[in-house]
Amino acid sequence: MSNTQDRLPRPVESERIPLKARKVSFSWADTPLHWVPGDPLTTHTINVLHLLLPAGERWFVHVYKQVLPYVRDERLREDVIGFIGQEAMHSQAHDEVLPHLREQGLDPTPYTAQVDWLFEKLLGDRTLPPGRPRRWWLQERVALIAAIEHYTAFLGDWVLNAGELDRRGADPTMLDLLRWHGAEEVEHRSVAFDLFLHLDGGYRRRVRTWAVAFTALVFLWQRGARFFMAADPTVVDGRARLRDFYLRGRRGLLPSTGAMLRSVPRYLSRAYHPSQEGSTQQAVAYLASSPAALAAERAGQTGRPGETGQPGKGAA
Ligand SMILES: [Fe+2]
Ligand SMILES: [Fe+2]
Repeated sequence: MSNTQDRLPRPVESERIPLKARKVSFSWADTPLHWVPGDPLTTHTINVLHLLLPAGERWFVHVYKQVLPYVRDERLREDVIGFIGQEAMHSQAHDEVLPHLREQGLDPTPYTAQVDWLFEKLLGDRTLPPGRPRRWWLQERVALIAAIEHYTAFLGDWVLNAGELDRRGADPTMLDLLRWHGAEEVEHRSVAFDLFLHLDGGYRRRVRTWAVAFTALVFLWQRGARFFMAADPTVVDGRARLRDFYLRGRRGLLPSTGAMLRSVPRYLSRAYHPSQEGSTQQAVAYLASSPAALAAERAGQTGRPGETGQPGKGAA
């Protein structure tokens, strides 16, 4: 293989499957405030997903709907449509956890208002002249989404394999939400990167947008965990120190610092392709046993966007 070929993204074709949205729903009535028993920090660090994802994944859908007319490859177009359907459902499912948090004394509004501003205003549509400036801003956001999807796939793979959460007695409904979502992130992990390659694929843009996405994710995540810890009426010492995150990573309750750092050069490798990470087989196997996904399947609530009806009743 030549040096040039060594530097090209190497997709693993066997990891690709057709995508379908599963219209799941969850009942939170029996989920305790600290759904990882006795461990508010782990609970709240993972709870940050419920703050970031509703606005973040709505933004993915918003951007991708604008991009669709520029997709000239029919297979990629099918993937993007499947991706839109899955992300719309993820956003809704995490949004539906927020009333449950409010009932338990955790009002997320001060934080979610800032997240909404970030995605709707700062990263939203801008008044730009048609032509190059508009296309530049669209490509920049497509590249940002590809970088973020590197981490959603990383987290999806992590949660599918996070046996320590089961051993600690984590709430099964919350685990099913996280693993159903994580499994679909693994299923569609190549779509955002393939779309980025299709529209632009410039290496400098990939590095620049990765740096923005990584910095923003780390900042928002630790801030969200600290927000929840400070707001939790049952926690006396509401601090969240870096050492606490590090130790939980070592115990398998959160992604480890080492695994997160190792994921950086992989994304920045010129030969990187998301299909080299995680396992579609494992994701599909989880979805075949997920209580929420099975309930959606039984109710006929799966398919492409617009093909599904009312939400089914999932893991309760
Ligand atoms: Fe998602
Ligand atoms: Fe995703």
